[in-house]
Amino acid sequence: MKDYVRSNWTNVVLVCRKCSKKLDGGFGPDGGERLAKALRKHLSLKKGRKATAGVMEVNCLGICPKGAVTVVDAAASRDWLLVRPGADLDELAESLGLNASEYP
Ligand code: FES
Repeated sequence: MKDYVRSNWTNVVLVCRKCSKKLDGGFGPDGGERLAKALRKHLSLKKGRKATAGVMEVNCLGICPKGAVTVVDAAASRDWLLVRPGADLDELAESLGLNASEYP
């Protein structure tokens, strides 16, 4: 049995699942998608380990903002983001180090 599993991820972003659920959408072209899904679609990321970056929904991160989703960039974990519905996904990807031009 292997002690490790390889992935293609260059970075990982943690998105609070509970915040996303409370907002019930709010992102994507028609505002009907959860943040993690909208971001994955926007960057055309593949699924799971084959993606070039990981956008993971995780349990409550303990901030619980009203009307926003808590997001942690694992590569810059000192500052967490509170992302409001309708946020520009290009700007968000840029600030999370997920430059859209790097992903097919
Ligand atoms: S519900 Fe999202 S941080 Fe607690």
